Amino acid sequence: MTDNGIYETNINNLININKNIEGDYIELGTFKGKSTVIMGNFIKNNTLSKKLFTFDSFSGYNINDIKNAKTKQEQDGLIFNNNSNRWNINKKIVVDKIKANNIDNIVEIIEGDISETIKTINNKNISLIFIDCNAYYPAYNALKHLKEQINHCCFLIVDEHRIGGETNALREFINKYNIKGSMFKLDTNYLTGPRIIFNVDKSTNNEMKLQWNQINKILKNKYREVIKLGSLRENDLCL
Ligand SMILES: C[S@@+](CC[C@H](N)C(=O)[O-])C[C@H]1O[C@@H](n2cnc3c(N)ncnc32)[C@H](O)[C@@H]1O
Repeated sequence: MTDNGIYETNINNLININKNIEGDYIELGTFKGKSTVIMGNFIKNNTLSKKLFTFDSFSGYNINDIKNAKTKQEQDGLIFNNNSNRWNINKKIVVDKIKANNIDNIVEIIEGDISETIKTINNKNISLIFIDCNAYYPAYNALKHLKEQINHCCFLIVDEHRIGGETNALREFINKYNIKGSMFKLDTNYLTGPRIIFNVDKSTNNEMKLQWNQINKILKNKYREVIKLGSLRENDLCL
């Protein structure tokens, strides 16, 4: 366990639930690599045959992210973060952390605008997408691109800060492509762990349904199920 304490515990507890589902992990938004290192170490410590692909520009939002923000609040937040250089960091910080944790054979950093770089992920099985870019547009584009690569029982996890863009992306993606599954809200805040988890159901037979039900039962015992996505109020999901 690193210094991240409860944040790390909450992520580990969550991703432990579907760790035996085949497929790699995707992280949208690396920053200094806090969640990257947590998930990389999780893969290492559980000797899972997975890779973690983590995406960042290391310089904040693209102009299209700002133009295509879903709400004025999101747009203002993105502009504020870019103007204050909040996410401007040297990628070497992450490279060094990954080496220090001995997970450089597990984690691959993909630098650039997510809406473009996500296109390098093809013909993969994905069992987890950790959405932490705090913006609607790159999150939506990434989900859309990965749609066919998302495995049965994949976890779509939204870390979510105050802006709400990622949740809008997840909601729109699920509705538009009629992605089946169940959504849960975690009793966390931005310091203590991810907020939302969607358990993807791609069952085509009884065995797959049973597998999904087993995972969903564990989620149900731990987190609050948010029953119908269409009926969700904004406040149910974020902040
Ligand atoms: C909240 S931080 C990620 C935090 C990180 N997961 C952690 O555990 O510390 C959001 C990151 O998303 C990145 N980001 C936002 N929009 C992006 C885009 N369109 N392409 C690439 N990176 C982007 C930012 O540069 C920033 O580093």
